[in-house]
Amino acid sequence: MCGIVGYVGPQNALDVVLGGLRRLEYRGYDSAGVAVLADGGQATAKKAGKLANLEKALADSPLPESTIGIGHTRWATHGGPTDRNAHPHVSADGKVAVVHNGIIENFAALRSECEATGIEFASETDTEVAGHLLAAAYEAAPAGPGRLAEAMRAVSSRLEGAFTLVASHADEPDTLVASRRNSPLVVGVGDGEYFLGSDVAAFISHTREARELGQDQVVEIDRHRGLTVTDFAGTVVEPAAYTVDWDAEAAEKGGHEWFMLKEIAEQPQAVADTLLGRLGEDGGLVLDEVRLTDQDLRDIDKVFVVSCGTSFHAGLIAKYAIEHWTRIPVEVEVASEFRYRDPVLDRSTLVVVISQSGETMDTLMALRHAKDQKARVLAICNVNGSTIPRESDAVLYTHAGPEIAVASTKSFLAQIVACYLVGLILAQVRGVKYADEVAAIVAELQKLPEAVAQVLTQMEPVRELGRSLADADTILFLGRHVGFPVALEGALKLKELAYIHAEGFAAGELKHGPIAVIDQGTPVVVIVPSPRGRSLLHGKVVSNIQEVRARGARTIVIAEDGDDDVVPYADHLIRVPRTPTLLAPVVTTVPLQILACEIADTRGFDVDQPRNLAKSVTVE
Ligand code: G6P
Repeated sequence: MCGIVGYVGPQNALDVVLGGLRRLEYRGYDSAGVAVLADGGQATAKKAGKLANLEKALADSPLPESTIGIGHTRWATHGGPTDRNAHPHVSADGKVAVVHNGIIENFAALRSECEATGIEFASETDTEVAGHLLAAAYEAAPAGPGRLAEAMRAVSSRLEGAFTLVASHADEPDTLVASRRNSPLVVGVGDGEYFLGSDVAAFISHTREARELGQDQVVEIDRHRGLTVTDFAGTVVEPAAYTVDWDAEAAEKGGHEWFMLKEIAEQPQAVADTLLGRLGEDGGLVLDEVRLTDQDLRDIDKVFVVSCGTSFHAGLIAKYAIEHWTRIPVEVEVASEFRYRDPVLDRSTLVVVISQSGETMDTLMALRHAKDQKARVLAICNVNGSTIPRESDAVLYTHAGPEIAVASTKSFLAQIVACYLVGLILAQVRGVKYADEVAAIVAELQKLPEAVAQVLTQMEPVRELGRSLADADTILFLGRHVGFPVALEGALKLKELAYIHAEGFAAGELKHGPIAVIDQGTPVVVIVPSPRGRSLLHGKVVSNIQEVRARGARTIVIAEDGDDDVVPYADHLIRVPRTPTLLAPVVTTVPLQILACEIADTRGFDVDQPRNLAKSVTVE
């Protein structure tokens, strides 16, 4: 998830672009860069780190005044967060500058193709191929108006994956072109000027008039010819026009009251992006960085999953999937305990460390302890180039984008998906699952973004329920199988945000003690597994609902569409789409996030920055 800005008009482009980047910096801050057209060429500046580094560099050596410019703030995916990998990327002939958000899945093949023509690459990014291809396509396109847009269409048609691209060409000093597939882009229309942005925050201080760009479309903005939108085949389409009614501050949060709500809304994209580009050229699933051989993975006879907080709950879900698919025993442990109890590890142990930030000290220390014992370490992480992935033997990045709210939401869903991928990769390498079995599970994973999106459309009753629970003293969460970690996560979210006492239990454990705390009206949230497939499990949970109800509990039941067995026992029924049992946490977690957020908001608390907590805890 990166931030993109473009400008054509009478103002000094650099000022407009930097102003836009400031408002988009929440989208990524691994590096920032700008390119303006001046004196018949591209003038660029780019710096690793936050935007402030770029601004300092520009203060020391300013770029020339210009009426056209592009800018980028990066959330690294391919290639570390360095000056070299910062966008914009300039083509070998020096004429095209391009910025990109997304992942070009077929970049390796395209890179080889460019290298075969003698082009030397200046970065490790997937983006750079787009710049070289655009320069070549421009040369091949008929001269005259619309030439750069034609080149952009030709290149976009060849790209696979997700991308928003914005480009300028030294021979077209009044034109910017952009294209999009599966990544966001909006156009701002001012008085004799045009803006491009990953979201409206990029230009809200200049104009509220916006045009929405559809999937697989190319837009050309030209100071004289105005705005033209086409599909990739060149057919002209009319973009949807709208007026933004948010102010600049709300725009950063995408119109949401809290960053957490925005991040919850981004979950379908986070899940989709984490799945993107996982299929290798030979049809096998791939990790991002691997310093292990397939034989190393085949030699694994035990897995530990180690993490903290919400990431620990993703680890608990990993156990069900990895054991089920690979038949390798899996232990899950909080990082702060793992290190100090002398766990039994050797070269054939795989330790999977999960961390959104990649900097959590407890997890880092556990990783180092595992390496000292010669175990192999695989990291699941959301921050490219952070310490934990750097010190691991293999890495699978979650592509959830920056998470600003302290309480994890979208990164948790992305972590669960990454855990499934680790299970499938192990199963594949070890030959315990046939390729078609892996493909069938991947096909189910691909349906999850849509399922999460559907859950998000039906959350109003959950918000209403949340408002009615604002005075509760205690809320309990129950689940079995993968529903148990979801119950733990639901309780954690509530504690973190609303400061209400909450506990998650394995539903079967209830009768061994916790049931004693249930009193008249005690809210109990129950995560019900699918009645299909493992109906024994389902029946047991339905009995647990009846048990708590018989003791006066107010039951809040999360069950899949079509599950009628729960209806008589649910005081509140929250529906989720049908999903295979193992994958269900990705959808059943979402209502619990909304519930906690609404209760906290009703109680008047700061949802994004709860008391006593920190996003990344770098002390043990
Ligand atoms: C902190 C945060 C939690 C997070 C945990 C682990 O305690 O408040 O939300 O789950 O750290 O963080 P990590 O970055 O390692 O996933």
